[in-house]
Order: sequence, then structure tokens, then C-alpha cells
Amino acid sequence: MTIKDIFTTMDYGPALESKSEALAWLAQHDNLVGHFINGKWTAARDDFATSNPATGEKLAGVTKGTPADIAAAVAAARKAQPAWAKSGHKRARVLYAIARLMQKHARLLAVMETLDNGKPIREARDIDTPLAIRHFYHHAGFAQLMQDELPDREALGVCGQIIPWNFPLLMLAWKIAPALAMGNTVVLKPAEYTPLTAMVFADICMQAGVPAGVVNIVMGDGETGAALVTADVDKIAFTGSTEVGRKIRQATAGTGKALSLELGGKSPYIVFDDADMDSAVEGLVDAIWFNQGQVCCAGSRLLVQEGIADRFYAKLKARMDGLRIGDPLDKCIDIGAIVDPVQLAQITAMVSGNREGETYQTKAPEGCFYPPTLITGLSPASHLMQEEIFGPVLVATTFRTPVEAVEIANNTRYGLAASVWSENINLALDIAPKLAAGIVWVNGTNMMDAAAGFGGIRESGFGREGGWEGLAGYTRPKTSAKPVKRIAPFGSAGGTATDPLDRTAKLYIGGKQARPDGGYSHAVFNPRGKLLGHVAEANRKDLRNAVEAMNAAKGWTKSTGHLRAQILYYIAENLSARGDELAKRIKDLTGKSGTDEVEQTIHALFTFAAWADKYDGKVHGVPIRGVALAMHEAVGNIAVFCEDASPLLGLVTPMAAAISMGNRVTLVASEPFPLIVAEIYQILETSDLPGGVVNILTGDHADLAGHAAKHHDIDAVWSFSGTDISAVIEKGSASNLKRTWVNNGTSIAPTARDWLAAATEVKNIWIPYGE
Ligand code: NAI
Repeated sequence: MTIKDIFTTMDYGPALESKSEALAWLAQHDNLVGHFINGKWTAARDDFATSNPATGEKLAGVTKGTPADIAAAVAAARKAQPAWAKSGHKRARVLYAIARLMQKHARLLAVMETLDNGKPIREARDIDTPLAIRHFYHHAGFAQLMQDELPDREALGVCGQIIPWNFPLLMLAWKIAPALAMGNTVVLKPAEYTPLTAMVFADICMQAGVPAGVVNIVMGDGETGAALVTADVDKIAFTGSTEVGRKIRQATAGTGKALSLELGGKSPYIVFDDADMDSAVEGLVDAIWFNQGQVCCAGSRLLVQEGIADRFYAKLKARMDGLRIGDPLDKCIDIGAIVDPVQLAQITAMVSGNREGETYQTKAPEGCFYPPTLITGLSPASHLMQEEIFGPVLVATTFRTPVEAVEIANNTRYGLAASVWSENINLALDIAPKLAAGIVWVNGTNMMDAAAGFGGIRESGFGREGGWEGLAGYTRPKTSAKPVKRIAPFGSAGGTATDPLDRTAKLYIGGKQARPDGGYSHAVFNPRGKLLGHVAEANRKDLRNAVEAMNAAKGWTKSTGHLRAQILYYIAENLSARGDELAKRIKDLTGKSGTDEVEQTIHALFTFAAWADKYDGKVHGVPIRGVALAMHEAVGNIAVFCEDASPLLGLVTPMAAAISMGNRVTLVASEPFPLIVAEIYQILETSDLPGGVVNILTGDHADLAGHAAKHHDIDAVWSFSGTDISAVIEKGSASNLKRTWVNNGTSIAPTARDWLAAATEVKNIWIPYGE
């Protein structure tokens, strides 16, 4: 290219980043990737290749981890864990050393990432690597602060972590930094396409003085990942596809392993007619063409207000024409290579299979590249509007009103992120809370930081990574759990009942007492075998009715904390007025004095009434010209299987915790002592609680648990039951990846904050603020 050419075209010339240092580093390791176990490299094999997707050249041979490798890594992690958990300050120093060494080797990490993944060097250098480093700095701080700020929490133990190929180093940092900070040790499995930066990281761990066994890295594919899931670990933290997330939910069901899932998305990018259009177009470049669109939170679904759609699409196409696509090592490149020909084939098949709307594409070079693509005129239900493409493909539709924008935005099984573009702050802040997403960016997109929790709702998974909220996923309460025993109901001592009146306690659905759909009931006896009455046996249809009632009570979620507090106090007052009666009832049912239980129940109601308007969110200081508002939102519809032993307290405590935060709840009463419910109905009926906010069923826990776990309109299932239903609930929950909180056969004594955390979801709303 001559100077004249340059002046004529004003085109960028190539500005290639050198790959020689990265290749030399690989050569020093014989171009082979082994496992890093107990502070040492294992003998490596060339089981499969990792290649540069931009050129197809093989970079290294990779060892596929076997179950024996996983077991060795887990054993090393287990051995190292107690010592590692001892001193937060020591951990802080090690994490700080990792951050400093990553900074020192930042260029090597960035080039290695680009070679292995195909992402533009500009992104690997300016985004992935600095963000990964920031994660270690930030979490060095959390390690230092743990003892003072989280005195009631401790490490989980050994964490198995499985990461995808789209942000190999960044995802590694998101997983390893918080786990280590909280005193856990880890076994990490990188994705098969992109093991190389994890290898550099292992080298950095050795230099940083990470004790042997604290960080273990086992290379391999899905089979290796599956072996890690079933190994003797205390937690699985997974980022990847929803399909694999579902499998992992099923595989860990009933094992007591903690689980966090960061899965797919189809995040809406909403542009209102008063938006700064040029900024919104530029934002889209970062939303969907960042990392070739291989981003779980990519703004992949464009919703434009009808009046500006044509102008907006025209500007967008002009911008697309200017995107430079090619050699990822070229510093002038906007769009690099797709991670692997398999992924390229998947994107190509999805786009070419589409028969709707209009497709606009720019050009891509030969090889593993896919051109920036815009498909307009799709209906909200179109396949491409619903399914994750995971490529540089933007699908678009229009809307007329803000209400319609929210409706289309939420018309998805996912709920990871959303962007709202408007110059009207009232509009933007009205819309943000209405979007079903874990993260909302106002006039921005794809912003992430170690100080703000990242994660979704619905089928985008559960758990948060980053910020104070992320620490919960790597810690547990310091209480020791005791086994919970099932309590068998008392049987009949024989003879006939003297009272001929029908005393069958009904169900409580939608604020009314309802007969069970099946028409069945069963007798309840006192410890001496005397008949106390009958209770209804709820079936699947009754549960469905309760869910309908919860759906009809959504207004509760919008009510103020002040109102919810008043109602909880009122319930406490009404319950207190009937305290003697309730205590007697408990004595009749259980044979034990009920006086303390009644007192504790009133106490619990006061506690959650108190919290109803005080469980504040946080304002995260993120390094942008803005803040991230970490808001506590209600989870939605919660089904609870109540504990056996304390029929009143075990029913009212989860109820109070759930509704104090704005959830609607369906409680399945204590299995051996269900007859308490008749008294509760009357108290609820006189306490101004809107119908449907609380529904109460009686019946067989084992029968109802599977139905509750699989119901798509239930957002969370909790179980404190003495009946062994934890596995059924966790397995069934994989259907829509609802949240679960189950006792796994142990008796748990949650603190108020544990209840509140389970009853809420954190939504981070990023808003521009100040300068
Ligand atoms: P994937 O979900 O299969 O792989 C992610 C990680 O899980 C890898 O480390 C893999 O080895 C491991 N893995 C696979 N099967 C496993 C199993 N049964 N048990 C335990 N670990 C297992 O994602 P993949 O195949 O790389 O990509 C397929 C699609 O998934 C993509 O086209 C994209 O749509 C989506 N995806 C979404 C990501 C996200 O962050 N939301 C990240 C990667 C992929």
C-alpha cells in the first residue's frame, strides 16, 4: 500500500501484534498442555489439538483429563484446603501477588488468548486481561475483609469449576478469585478449545507462591467436565450452555453440592425514539459484535421504537459497513475469528435456516470468520428471536409503546441482561425494574466489573459472580447441620369418633378455603391415638390452582415494604390474640407444649416485618462514569415444603420471609402435624393480606414435590421437610432451572439474612452518574 493509496482510501494499514513470544512460551513447554495438579505439571499427552481459529494452525496438543486425574486434583485440593482457609490476610497477599504477576505478563496473556480463541487483540489486551486482573485485585480485598465483614461464614471446601471458551482467562478469574478469597481450593476445567491462558495462569500461580493443591487445573472436554461434576467436591460452578447447565443440575441433584450456573441469554437491547441514536448504534457494536457475538450477555435482540426504526437501521448498516473483520492479531481489527469451525457451522446453519425478515450482511474473509449480520422484521416468536445464536448476528423487531417494549423484552425463557437507551431518565428508570434480567445497563452495554454481581434469572441460571453478592456462592453459614429425622404421624388407637361433625380442614387457595380437587382427606390423630379431625389431600391440580392464585397476586410484588411490614405486624397481632388456642392446638397435635413455639412464631413475624422495608440493596462503585445499583428483587412464586417438627413456626417463618420481600408463596404444611392450618386460615383472612399471596396446601410431600419442581410458573422451591424430597426437587428443577433451597436430609437453622437472601434476587442496574 502506497502513501497515495492511504490518502485516497483513508484505510487503516495492518498493525500486527507479534505472536513470537507466545509461540516461544509454548515451545518451551514442548507445545503440549498437561494438567496442573498439586503445584506441578503432569506428564502431557497430545490427545487433542488446540488451534488458532484464524489460521487453522495447531498451537499445542492437549491432554484429556481422566476420572483418575480429576480424583488426584480433588485429593490435592482437599488436602490443601484447611491450611488455605486459615488466614484471610495470607490469602490476600497471594491474590495480590497473582494480580501483580498477571499485570507483568499481561501482553503474553492477551496474545495467547487471541491466538487460542480468535478474539481481536484489542479486546484481549484492553478488556479481557485488565478485567481478569481487576478481579484478583478486588478479591484480594475480600480475602482481607472476610474475617471482619463475614464473621458468620466459612469456606465451602473444594470447588469444581467448569468454564467456556468465549472468555477463557476472564471466566477463570471470575471463578478462581472469589473461591480462593473465601478460603476454598479449586479444581478448574478450561474449555477444550481454549486451554492456553489457563496454562500461563498456572505458571503465574507457581511464581505467586500459591500453595500446592490450592489451584488445580485439569484439561479436557465434556467428559472430563462430567467427571468433575460427580467427583468429591463441595460445589460446582459452571458457565456455559443452558443445555449442559441442565445436565449438571440433574447430576448434582440430592448430593448436597452447592451449584451456580451462568448460562445462555438472548438479551434485549431496547432503543426508544428519544435515544441518542449515534450512541445507541455504537453501543450495538459492543453489544453484539464484541467477541464476535460469542457473549452470553450479548445484546442480541434489538427492539427499536417504530418511529425511528428505518433511520436507526440505516445508521446501523452504515456502521456495520465500517467494521473491520480479519486477522485478530491486527490491532485495527474490530471482529476476529469464530472460535472453531464447529461453532461457525452452527451459526451458519441457524442463519441460513431462517426464512423470515430481511438479512443484511457485510463481508468476511475466507476461513473461520462470519460477517456481521442484521436480520430485521422478525416477529417476537421467531426462532432466531428466541434461540441463542452465539455469533455476530443481531436480530431485530420494532415496538410502539414502552409497555410493548417490556412485553417483547421479557418474552424469552432467558433473563441474563438488558440494555435500555433513552435520553429520558424517567422512562429509563421506569423500564429497568420491569425487565426480567439480572443485569440492566442504562445507555450502555456489556459493562462488567469485579465489584458488581453478574448473573441471571430464569433459564440464564442462578448465582452471582462478583461483588459482595458473589461471595455468598463461595461460603456457607458456620452452623453445623444435624441430620433431620422424618416424624411419623400418630396412628389411631381404635374406636369410633364421638363427634359426628365433619371437621375436615380444607386447602387455602387465592384467599379462600377450597375443597381438594381429588376429594380425598385423611384423619389426624393425637399422640394417644384420638381422632383430632381430617385434612385435605392436595394433588397436582390443587397445586396448579395455587400457582394460578400466586400469578393473580403479582400486585403484592409491587407493594411497598412499608405496606408489607404493616400486614406482617397485623398477622402477628392476630396470631398473638389467639396464642393460647394455638398453643393448645400444637399440644394436641404433637404432645409437646406449644407455648414457646407460638412465642417464636410471633418473634419471626416481627423479624420479617422489621426487615420488609430495611433489606436494602447496595450501590456498587464500578470504574465507569456511573454506579451499579444492586437492587433486591422478589424471586416470584415460591413453593415451600414445611418442616415436620414445629407445625406453626415451620409454616409461618418461610411464609413471613418470602412475603416480606414481595414473593407469593404456596406452603405445604408439616406432614405429620398438618391440622394447624385451620387456625392459620382464619388469622390470614382477618389480616388484610390480599388473596393469593399466601396459599396453603396439606398433603403428601413426596407426591407434591416433583410437581412443584417441574412447574414452569414456580420460580423457587424450598424444602425443610423430614421426607427425603431434596433430590426430586433439585432434579425436577432442571426443567426451567428454578432456584432451590433444600435441606438434603439435614436440619438447617437459617439466620434472618439467609432467609432474606433466598427470598430475593440481586439485579444490578448500571446507570450513568456524575463524572
Ligand atoms: P458447553 O456448555 O458444552 O461447554 C462449556 C464447558 O462445559 C466446557 O468446558 C465443556 O468442556 C464443559 N462441558 C460440556 N459438557 C459437559 C458435561 N456434560 N458436564 C460437565 N461439563 C461439560 O458449550 P459449547 O459446546 O462449548 O458451546 C455450545 C453452545 O453453548 C454455544 O454455541 C453457545 O450457544 C453456548 N455457550 C454459551 C456460553 C455462555 O457463556 N452462555 C458459553 C459457551 C457456550
